Amino acid sequence: MDASTPLPSSARQSAAPETLMVRPLLLKPQYMNGLSERLLVSHYVNNYGGALRRLNAIRTRLAAVDWARAPVFEINGLKREELIAAGSVILHEIYFDSLGGHGNDPPTGREQPATELAQALERDFGSVAAWRTEFTAMAKALAGGSGWAILAWSERLGRLVNQWAPDHAHALAGATPVLALDMYEHAYHIDFGAKAAAYVDQAMANLNWPRIGARYRLAVGENVEENELFLPYGSPAQEEARISAEELKSALARDDDRRPFLLDLCLPHDLARRTDMLAGAVMHAPAALPQWVEALPRDRPIAAYCICGFQVSGTAVTELRRRGYDARALAGGITAWHAIGGATVPMDTSTYEAAIPAQAAGA
Ligand SMILES: [Fe+2]
Repeated sequence: MDASTPLPSSARQSAAPETLMVRPLLLKPQYMNGLSERLLVSHYVNNYGGALRRLNAIRTRLAAVDWARAPVFEINGLKREELIAAGSVILHEIYFDSLGGHGNDPPTGREQPATELAQALERDFGSVAAWRTEFTAMAKALAGGSGWAILAWSERLGRLVNQWAPDHAHALAGATPVLALDMYEHAYHIDFGAKAAAYVDQAMANLNWPRIGARYRLAVGENVEENELFLPYGSPAQEEARISAEELKSALARDDDRRPFLLDLCLPHDLARRTDMLAGAVMHAPAALPQWVEALPRDRPIAAYCICGFQVSGTAVTELRRRGYDARALAGGITAWHAIGGATVPMDTSTYEAAIPAQAAGA
């Protein structure tokens, strides 16, 4: 088609914008240092997930705008809301990535930045301690209001800066955030009530410095080889062994033999953390795999999920693939499914193994 030929309106309307996909939690919400699972999961599902769903809805609406004829209030409204939602999504992803321990080990609060980032903080703030004092004071100053405390790399200023942001759309032009601390009340009220300062101190005791350091190295233009830093602990390393929540939602809309079989995996001691499941899923104990594996279909894809998509589904999917099943682990687990607004039904444990070999149950 010649470039000067206008697109037919049908083509414009059918050009659905690419969906921005949910980012799985990298922190283990049940193994944090003084921040509760209830707080973190509510924040992730409702506030981060809410912003993501809003952004995708806005992008769909924007794709249908007739830019030559749309009234300015419509353009202003949609572009303003797009900016706010995109800022919220990106800052929440940096926030959640910035928190967490290593594997099942909770953060101790004693970790320090790695050498390269520590040297940059010393160069730009005098010392790591001085940076920390300024950053936490800036965050606590937002108490009672809302916003973000951000550590960002500014290429133009040639330094790291502590950037104050009263809302999701407030950013230092051209700077790249490497750490973001959420100061909206939803980030702490469940655990700390109105004690925002106590939340700030506790959040600082949960920082994941390896990931923050990797973001810094990326911001200053270095290659970061540690991709596993940004993969959920225990999830399959191969991309073809994982399926995103959005891909699963789309696959479940099929009515043919490529519709995935849903496998819900849950450790016995985690059953109490669960209330719901995906419709049609069959629930099993991972340690009882030899008891249930032969009942799985070999002629259909299998989507296995656990709570957050860490090693429970990751280990099982690796084993299923070794046995020749077309299995994939749901990235981010049912928590990411919740975040995209995926439908669920009340949990049904009728297929769950009542008797699991004691040795395997502790695995
Ligand atoms: Fe938030």
